[in-house]
Amino acid sequence: MPAPAQNVNSASPNERTDLERLGRKIYFDTSLSTPPGQSCASCHTPAAGFADPDHSLSGSRGAIKSRTGFRNAPTAAYAKFIPPLHYDADDETYVGGLFWDGRVNSLAEQAQFPFLNPVEMHNPDQQAVVAKVRAAEYMPLFHKVFGAASLNPNNHQLAYQQITKAIAAFEQTPRFSPFTSKFDYYLKGTVKLTAKELRGLALYNDKANCFACHPSGAAAGQPGPMFTDFTYDNIGISKNWSSPYLKLPPSLNPDGQNFVDYGLANTVAKFDPDHAAEQAGRFKVPTLRNLALTAPYGHNGYFKTLKDIVHFYNTRDVPAAGWPESEVPATVNHDELGDLGMTDAEENDLVAFLLTLTDGYPAPHR
Ligand code: HEC
Ligand code: HEC
Repeated sequence: MPAPAQNVNSASPNERTDLERLGRKIYFDTSLSTPPGQSCASCHTPAAGFADPDHSLSGSRGAIKSRTGFRNAPTAAYAKFIPPLHYDADDETYVGGLFWDGRVNSLAEQAQFPFLNPVEMHNPDQQAVVAKVRAAEYMPLFHKVFGAASLNPNNHQLAYQQITKAIAAFEQTPRFSPFTSKFDYYLKGTVKLTAKELRGLALYNDKANCFACHPSGAAAGQPGPMFTDFTYDNIGISKNWSSPYLKLPPSLNPDGQNFVDYGLANTVAKFDPDHAAEQAGRFKVPTLRNLALTAPYGHNGYFKTLKDIVHFYNTRDVPAAGWPESEVPATVNHDELGDLGMTDAEENDLVAFLLTLTDGYPAPHR
């Protein structure tokens, strides 16, 4: 097993600027939730591939422990490569945007939300977050970066922007995008894959068709493969009846057991309501980097293991396999997945390849 990435809030040559160092302090600060105890890193832990270390949960637990969200925490790693949401008319698909439904366009914009989300860090308002940061030991660093205008309580909007700007700067440091997986070294020609991993790679790029949405080569302008083309699709995942979110009171989940996650449609409804229904059930294609560390899988954490989700791709449309109906049947993609005709041994080969995408593989000696 490759050594997991550093998990501590320690000074690191990773951060080159005070803004990045400040971002690290905030990212790991567990005093910024109500009640205290939860930071960004609680749900996006370095040693868990910058996702939630609690693999038993379909959605993350909030600062109030009895509350969980309805979506599985995606990795914050490699998120700096996600482009802003836009429509690609040639491919007739939306591309980019952060969150599973692309509803925000930048890391700084994204960072505004978790602090105030009642099932996440649960602060009442921006003022409360600003007041907590003002009380933190790293205020001197804040002054160094933002000068006299730092965290002015009379201009909490500007103060809040300073906080999220620092977080975004930290998320853009190499610690979040190291490109140090076995597969990265294989692409550079410094490490060999095993015969099993190579069979998995061949399946990935051909028979299993994974590369169609999760490209295994670097796109123009990118330093390495992202394993996502940042488009949206409905791969046909069922409702996750084991999600504790379904049992939350109406103040937090107004639809109760009838809750349906329409994904991208909720975002498109805000600016193009006439075409929102076409996007129902579609979610952003996630990166496959660090999968070994980020279970469970899918937007609602339906799949507990990689073998489960690979078997789903392979057999979703094979009646004997007995998969439950998709949560949003109308838009399911039946062309590119669902009946891949792989044997059990081929499924295992594919999983072996996916396990080569974990960062922190020992750098090869030349
Ligand atoms: C309680 C768990 C939790 C906490 C705390 C939390 N997040 Fe998240 N994060 C999530 C979940 C769940 C999502 C997906 C939500 C959605 O798609 O609607 C997410 C999404 C993201 C994304 C988008 C990734 C992508 O692929 O689009 C980033 C980046 C991120 N969080 C960073 C942060 C930062 C920065 C903080 C601290 C300010 C934070 N998170 C705090 C659970 C958490
Ligand atoms: C048509 C596009 C498409 C194809 C082809 C495709 N995927 Fe996906 N993949 C997606 C989308 C979209 C999601 C997110 C869906 C959701 O959560 O509802 C996803 C999610 C995943 C996840 C979950 C990752 C996480 O962090 O939760 C894994 C693992 C995965 N895909 C692996 C594969 C493999 C292996 C193949 C080939 C057998 C494959 N995908 C083929 C679009 C695709």
